[in-house]
Amino acid sequence: MKSNLVIQTMLDHKSIRKYTDEVPSDEVIKTIVRVGQQAPFASQYYSVLLSRDRERNPYKAPLLFTICIDSYKFELIMARRNWKLVTNDLTLMLFGIQDAALMAENMVIAGRSLGLGSCFLGSALYRAEKIAEQYDLPKRVFPLVQLVMGYPAEDPPTRPRYPIEFTLFEDKYPKLNQDTISKAMQQMDEGYLAQDYYRNLNAKIKLENREETFTYDNYSWTEHICRKWGQWYPDPKTLLEQLEKCGFHITGKRLK
Ligand SMILES: Cc1cc2nc3c(=O)[nH]c(=O)nc-3n(C[C@H](O)[C@H](O)[C@H](O)COP(=O)(O)O)c2cc1C
Repeated sequence: MKSNLVIQTMLDHKSIRKYTDEVPSDEVIKTIVRVGQQAPFASQYYSVLLSRDRERNPYKAPLLFTICIDSYKFELIMARRNWKLVTNDLTLMLFGIQDAALMAENMVIAGRSLGLGSCFLGSALYRAEKIAEQYDLPKRVFPLVQLVMGYPAEDPPTRPRYPIEFTLFEDKYPKLNQDTISKAMQQMDEGYLAQDYYRNLNAKIKLENREETFTYDNYSWTEHICRKWGQWYPDPKTLLEQLEKCGFHITGKRLK
């Protein structure tokens, strides 16, 4: 495999959940956000809110970024040109997610290159209304994801990924046989178990309708992810409500 400083920095990525007391300077913060902005974009359909309230921030991180999909300021620009937005919100949301995600990941990489660690927090989606209130977000601004950042007080090993053969398919999507699936699961599960990842995080998801047979000795990534997506929110109502409270209107109908 090729290697250089950028590739090494990216391959060294690991989510950080413990932070030192050191406070990143304004210059560091501005650099990270400026690099985030340089990500490719469809419409720069985002804004970033920052909180330095360490006591309140998850993992007591010195920085908490809330990355929002922002149609509000976009529509202000359209109004200045005497245009109104007519495209449906689902399309805007899908493009907005891409813009915001690319931006956020650039921030992660820039942070790491300057010695900072970070960790995304997916719960924003379900707390959007509360977050909107906290930051006084105008309607048409939706908090997509949060990102804590600071100088790491831990140095865990990098976490595993699927084998590349389970990710990159050339020319045609292959028939996935049981052996290929087993290998992918094994790589993930053995990798997480070797680090005692879930035991260290104390993050076993409770089973609602099945008897528990797993301990932290065999509870691993594929079990975790099955529990995460196999138990709750069979219809999109909860998320649609959050979106609607933030001024986005997306049909609840299942896409064909
Ligand atoms: C959209 C998203 C949401 C996430 N939410 C959380 C979270 O709520 N809490 C947390 O500790 N980690 C969260 N993570 C971090 C993942 O758990 C982590 O990226 C994954 O386990 C891979 O580990 P690594 O980042 O160390 O390689 C999230 C990551 C993403 C991209």
